[in-house]
Amino acid sequence: MSSHVARQQFICITVAIGGLLFGFDTAVISGAITLIKNQFALDTVMEGWLVSSGLAGCILGVLITGLVSDRIGRKKTIALAGIMFLISAVGCAFPPSFSVLVIARMIGGVGVGMASVVSPMYIAEFAPASHRGRMIAYYQLAITLGILLAYFSNALLVNYSHHSFNSDWSNWFFHTEAWRPMFLAMAIPSVVFLALLTRVPESPRWLMSRQQTAKATAIMQQVRSADEAAKELAEISKAAGRASARRISLTSPAIRLPLMIGIVLAVFQQFSGINAIIYYGPSIFEAAGIDSSNALLFQVIIGAVNMLFTILAIRWADKYGRRILLIAGLTGIVVSLVLCGLLFYTNNTQGPLLLILMLTYIACFAFSLGPVTWIVINEIFPTEVRVKAVAVCTLALWIAVWMVGQFFPWLLEKTGAAVTFWMFALCSLINFVFSLKVVKETKGKTLEEMEEVFIAPH
Ligand code: BGC
Repeated sequence: MSSHVARQQFICITVAIGGLLFGFDTAVISGAITLIKNQFALDTVMEGWLVSSGLAGCILGVLITGLVSDRIGRKKTIALAGIMFLISAVGCAFPPSFSVLVIARMIGGVGVGMASVVSPMYIAEFAPASHRGRMIAYYQLAITLGILLAYFSNALLVNYSHHSFNSDWSNWFFHTEAWRPMFLAMAIPSVVFLALLTRVPESPRWLMSRQQTAKATAIMQQVRSADEAAKELAEISKAAGRASARRISLTSPAIRLPLMIGIVLAVFQQFSGINAIIYYGPSIFEAAGIDSSNALLFQVIIGAVNMLFTILAIRWADKYGRRILLIAGLTGIVVSLVLCGLLFYTNNTQGPLLLILMLTYIACFAFSLGPVTWIVINEIFPTEVRVKAVAVCTLALWIAVWMVGQFFPWLLEKTGAAVTFWMFALCSLINFVFSLKVVKETKGKTLEEMEEVFIAPH
C-alpha cells in the first residue's frame, strides 16, 4: 500500500468512527431503558420522552449541520459532533435529575444527527472516485460495529453488576444504578475519535469552495500522487467555475432528480423495517415461540450478521456498482419479508426457518440498502448545495426512523406480524422498482463528473 493510500485509509476510517458513535448511541438505550424505568418509576409518557428525546436531538443535529458545515468547515463540524457524544456520555451517566438525563440524551442525538450528515459527506468529498463506495461503506460498517459494541458493553456491565463491591460508590455505580456506566462507556470511543480527528485535514473540496486553493493543494498532495492531485484540483476548480456561472440552489429544477433519488432512498431504507427487526427481533422470536431465555444472544447474532455482510459492500460497491447491489439486495429483502409474513400467516413460526429468513433479510440489507443509501445520498449533489441537500435527505431518513418507531408497535398489535412484514415488503418492492428505473449508476465517477449525469449542462 502506498503512503498516500495508507493516509487516505487512516483519514476515512477515523471519520467513519462518527458512524460507530451513531450506532452505539442509538443502541445503548435498549439495554439501559428497563433499569432507568425501574429507578425513576417512569410511566409510558416519560419513557416515550426519554426514547424520543434522542430522535428529536438527531433532527436538530441534522438542521444545525445543514446550516453550519458550509461556514465552519467539515472537520470542525465533525469535531463538534464528537464533543456532543462526549458531553452526552458524561451527562447521561451522572444526571442530577431525570430531566437532565432527557436533555443529555438529546445532546447525544444532536451528535448522531450531525455525524450522520457530515461523516459520510466528508468521506465522499475526500475519497478518490475509484474507492469512494468502499470508503463510505466503512461508515456503515462502523454503525454496525457501534450497535454490536453497545450490546456487548451493556451485557458485560449487567454481568459485572452481580459482583460484590467493596466501596459504597462502586456498589452504587456498578450495581444499584448499572445504567450509568452503560452510557459512560460511550466516552471512550468519543475521546479516541476526538484525539484521532486532530490528525485529519479539512476537506479539500470545501477549502476550494472557500477559495483556499493553497491549503487545498497542500492537503491534496499528501493524499494523492502528484499527477492525481493536479488532475483532481483542476477538475474541482473547473466545476467551481461552472457552479458560479449557474448558481444552483436547493430549489433549482436541476437539483430535482438527485433530491428525489436521495429522499426516496433515505425514506425507503427505513420503511424496509430494518430498525424494527434489529430492535424488536428478539421479541419477534419470542412471540414466535422460540425460547429466548437469552435475548441478548439473538441481538448479538443479528448484529454480527449485519456487520459481517456489510464487509461485502466494502468489496463490491466499487466493483459491481451501487445499482446492482441495491437491486440484488432488495430482491432478497422482498422475498425474505414476504416469506416471514407467510410463516406468521400460516402459524408456522416454530422451527429454524423464521430465524434463517430474518437473518437473510439482515444480510441482504447489510450488503445493499444499508451502505448504498448513504453512499448515493452523499455523492450525487454538486458541492455548492451538497451539505444542504444531504441534510434534507438525512432529515427525511430520521423522520422515517421516527415514523417506524411510532407505528411499528401499533401496526404489530392491530394487524399482526404477517401484515406488518408484508407492509415492509411492499415498501421494499417500491424501492426495488425505483432503484431499477430511476437510480443512476455512480460508480467510478468523480463528484464533478457526477454533475454531468444528474445536472443538465447550462
Ligand atoms: C440505518 C440505520 C440502521 C443501521 C443498521 C443504517 O444504514 O440508517 O437506521 O440502524 O443501518 O445497520
